[in-house]
Amino acid sequence: MSPDAFPQLPQAVTLLKQGQLVAFPTETVYGLGADARNPEALERLYATKGRPRNHPVIVHLARVEQLSEWAQEIPETAWVLAKAFWPGPLTLLLKRHPTVSDQVTGGQETIALRIPAHPVALALLEAFEGGLAAPSANRFGRISPTTPAHVYEDLGEAVPLILDGGPCEVGIESTIVDLTQPQAIIRRPGLLTAADMEEVLGQPVQTAQPGPAVVETVRTPGALESHYAPQAPLRLLMSADLSMEVTARLTAGQSVAVLSHHHSPQTEILQATSGLITVQLQPQAAAYAKDLYAALRWLDAQHPDVILVEDPPRDCEWVGIRDRLSRAAAPLPPKTGRMP
Ligand code: TXA
Ligand code: MG
Repeated sequence: MSPDAFPQLPQAVTLLKQGQLVAFPTETVYGLGADARNPEALERLYATKGRPRNHPVIVHLARVEQLSEWAQEIPETAWVLAKAFWPGPLTLLLKRHPTVSDQVTGGQETIALRIPAHPVALALLEAFEGGLAAPSANRFGRISPTTPAHVYEDLGEAVPLILDGGPCEVGIESTIVDLTQPQAIIRRPGLLTAADMEEVLGQPVQTAQPGPAVVETVRTPGALESHYAPQAPLRLLMSADLSMEVTARLTAGQSVAVLSHHHSPQTEILQATSGLITVQLQPQAAAYAKDLYAALRWLDAQHPDVILVEDPPRDCEWVGIRDRLSRAAAPLPPKTGRMP
């Protein structure tokens, strides 16, 4: 992409070189970019996101050869996965290069690296000629942004430039695979599945069980239980229970938001009652993921008492979606009866 095709590119590069932040689109979600070799830029990044300093960030690159500037003792599996899936929604966890700062890694010996598949991101990374630390461009703990408007909603004027690359195609964050041990382990599931990677690696890929142990040992914020969360309490419900729950809550005078994918909760209720808002997403994982965060943000903006989400399918391509939804549901207080 030439600067003519994207006139804000030179300004973006100038800002980044000055240690400022630039939000940019990737195929997964929008990232908040900072020069990964500039301590002041990294400090600004953590402050703007409201993110704890010891939570590491992903470094985004333009070309596979740059891997060895950021990581060392790179296993063959990394090159194989990079060749197969980059640019794309995959982040590799590798042993960090000694020149990488603790600000990037949260003081850990690992570094997370990825080449995103979005023409604007790639053009920016090529023009910048270095690594960009880029967490999702939301405030810490909230829903990741999939449009420039979402970034502005969360961060406003704190970011001097938001590059507009339209809505993100993938819609949920990249799959993170840990290659620092003999066996590849998925630390954060995404649309790219263990099966996809097993096929090119010819060896099993495990999925880490999230929980306190993971949080403490590798401090993956995505592994914190309460994350990716709207303001309203969110509950996951089996399809069969959805209509009854909606009715009970409406009867109790609550305003209810429903996110479904094939089950539409009682059309009669929907027509007859105020206090109910519904969004129905497509029943295919890729299409569902693409619209998920925008739908959650929109429902949340209606300030319902609760967001009820129809439990997504258990098939392997839904693992990343299930992961994000269960984390969004985590802040709820313990159940007392049926109501939160
Ligand atoms: O799709 C994505 O990955 C997006 C786009 C912008 O690329 N980025 C993203 O970044 O989701 P963030 O910071 O919101 O989530 C990155 C995850 C966090 O859970 C972080 O802890 C983990 O990657 N991570 C980063 N560096 C790590 C490291 N050295 N060791 C372990 N986990 C790491
Ligand atoms: Mg994030």
